[in-house]
Amino acid sequence: MTTTEPTPDMASNAEIIGRHDANDLAEILAISNTDVHATIRSVADNADAIFTWDYDKGARKPLEKLYEKAKTSQWNGETDLDWSIDVDQEAVVAANAAAGLGISDDMDLSGTPFASWGDDEWTQLGVESQNWMLSQFLHGEQGALLCTAKIVETVPWIDAKYYAATQVMDEARHVEVFAKYLNTKLSGTYPVNAHLGLLLDDIVEDSRWDMTYLGMQIMVEGLALAAFGFMHQMTTEPLLKQLLRYVMSDEARHVAFGVLSLKEYYEGLTTAELKERQEFAFEAALRMRDRFLQQEVWERMGMSPKEVIPVIADLPQRQLFQQMLFTKIVPNCKKLGLLDAGDGWLRQKFGEIGVIQFEDMADTGEEYEMFALAEGEAGSGAPA
Ligand SMILES: [Fe+2]
Ligand SMILES: [Fe+2]
Repeated sequence: MTTTEPTPDMASNAEIIGRHDANDLAEILAISNTDVHATIRSVADNADAIFTWDYDKGARKPLEKLYEKAKTSQWNGETDLDWSIDVDQEAVVAANAAAGLGISDDMDLSGTPFASWGDDEWTQLGVESQNWMLSQFLHGEQGALLCTAKIVETVPWIDAKYYAATQVMDEARHVEVFAKYLNTKLSGTYPVNAHLGLLLDDIVEDSRWDMTYLGMQIMVEGLALAAFGFMHQMTTEPLLKQLLRYVMSDEARHVAFGVLSLKEYYEGLTTAELKERQEFAFEAALRMRDRFLQQEVWERMGMSPKEVIPVIADLPQRQLFQQMLFTKIVPNCKKLGLLDAGDGWLRQKFGEIGVIQFEDMADTGEEYEMFALAEGEAGSGAPA
C-alpha cells in the first residue's frame, strides 16, 4: 500500500446501508423477513473455485499451527455434552433477572408500553428473547458453515484450504448442537432476522475471497465470540454453559484464522481496495447492531417495535450489551489496519456508533489459545 495515494471518497450511508441516517428506526424496522415459511433460500455465489498446485505445507506457519491445533481439538456434540440435563427456561429467565440482566424494579416505566406489565409478561419476554437469540445464532452458524466451505474453494493458499476444511466440520457441529438445544430444551424458534439475512447474502454473493473472510471470520464470528463469552459468563444453566464453552474454543480459532490470513493479504492492497473493505466492515457492523433490536420478538408479543425499542434502547444494561458485542470486532479491525486506512474513516464511523473505545483490547490473532479446551476437557462426557 502506498501512502502517497490520495484518499478516495468514501461511500455515503445511503450507498452502504440504503438509508441516509444510519440510526433511522423507522427505516430499520421497515426491513423484515417476508419469506418466513420458506425452508430453502437460494443465493448466487459469484466466486471462482481456485485450485493451487503449490502444496508446500507450512508456507504460512501461523495457519499451519492453527490447522494442527484444530485437528486435535475436535469434540462430539452428541457425546461430549450432557443432553440428559433438564432445562427450566423460566427458571433461567428468573436467574438472569436476579443477576441484573433484566429490567429492574426500580426503573420508572410509567407512561411507556411496559407500564402495565407484571411478572408474567417479563418472564415471557425473557423466554422469547432466548428463543430468538439462539435461533439467530443457529442461522449465523449455518452462514459460517456455507462461508467456510466457500473459503475452501476460493482461497489460493494451501494452508488456508487445509484450515478452512477443519472449520467446515466445526461449523457443522455448531449448527447441530444449537439446533438440538433449541429443539429439545427451549420453547420455540424464529426465522432468520432480515438484517442478519441481508448480511449473510452479501457475504456469500461477493466474488472476492477475502470478503468472505472479512464478513464472516472478522465481523459475524467476532460478534458471536463476544456474545457467546457474555452468555457463557452469565448463564447458570449448565448445559448451555458447557455448549458455549465448547463452541467458543472453536470460534476463537476461527476469528484468529481471519485475522492471520487478512493481515498478510491487506498488506498488499491499495488505499482504494482497503476503502471497499472498510465500507463493508461498517455495513456489517450496522446490520448486526440492527438485528439485535429483535423486532420479531416484539411482534410475537403483540407489541409495536417502533414504540418499545426507544424505551429499551435507553436502558443502561441494554446499551452495555450492545457495545459488548463489538469488543472483538474493533481490535481485530485495528490489527488489520482498517481503522486508520483512508484517513481513519472507519475509526470515525465506529466512534459514531459508540464502539471505538474497544480498539485497544486484545486481538484474537493473539488471544485465541486462551480459549482452547484443557487436556481431557473434551471427551469427558460430563459438563464442567
Ligand atoms: Fe460456529
Ligand atoms: Fe465459527
